[in-house]
Amino acid sequence: MDEHTLLAEQLDYYRAAAAEYDRPYEERAELRDLLAVADDLPIGGDVLELACGTGQWTPSLAARARSVTAVDAAEEVLAVARGRVSSPHVRFVQADLFAWRPPRRYDTVFFAFWLSHVPPARPPDFWDSVAAALAPGGRAVFIDDGPAWAGEEEVVADRPVPAAVRRLQDGSRHRIVKVFHDARTLTDDLTALGWSAQVRPFGGHFIGVAEPSAPWGGLDCSSFGVARNRHPWCTRPHGRGLGERRRWAPA
Ligand SMILES: C[S@@+](CC[C@H](N)C(=O)[O-])C[C@H]1O[C@@H](n2cnc3c(N)ncnc32)[C@H](O)[C@@H]1O
Repeated sequence: MDEHTLLAEQLDYYRAAAAEYDRPYEERAELRDLLAVADDLPIGGDVLELACGTGQWTPSLAARARSVTAVDAAEEVLAVARGRVSSPHVRFVQADLFAWRPPRRYDTVFFAFWLSHVPPARPPDFWDSVAAALAPGGRAVFIDDGPAWAGEEEVVADRPVPAAVRRLQDGSRHRIVKVFHDARTLTDDLTALGWSAQVRPFGGHFIGVAEPSAPWGGLDCSSFGVARNRHPWCTRPHGRGLGERRRWAPA
């Protein structure tokens, strides 16, 4: 199956899954833990949310953002998201992220469980598009499944594009792209692409914060109005030696 066909099948799956998509968030404690972690992430300003789905993360973004533009290709999941979030500061956009280009730049580009659905040949273009969507000083914040999560999926072996099979309650089977990024490798890959990135494992998942290269070679909290040296994600030297990096405690 070629990449184009697999991406179309993936989107069809999410369109068909809209009514049952939220069930894991109700049943799985680790997903609720992840949602809670979002409150500690450096999210602010005008936020672009990629592949927002049913809007599980959108309220948390909206609570801290000046505005949220939440994009997804599936009208069915957007209908659920619109029912969940009714803030004048949140705008939902239906668009295919492999073709859509944002009309402006954002302070935060957030995506949960989207990177693993981007075929491996596309990441350089994908990260370029994220960088192009970021205003100066802006950041990408992302959450996804790590390799430990592979055991939870019906992985399809030996395919040119890593894939998994998802089943819906009606018994239908759907193939999706599924790439289980390792936190360390992803950090290295992002660094090679010119990003300053910190990706940490969180249970079977990972949480990442990345910024296109800054003059001091790190992440900066100052544009988010938090007290200097008090923000766990900030690597700006703040009067210490240039290039000195703060480290957050592993989860
Ligand atoms: C795993 S869900 C993530 C949803 C949400 N971010 C979350 O964490 O609950 C992936 C989302 O990607 C969307 N999607 C799939 N293909 C897409 C495409 N080509 N462009 C935009 N969104 C797409 C699906 O509709 C689905 O909502």
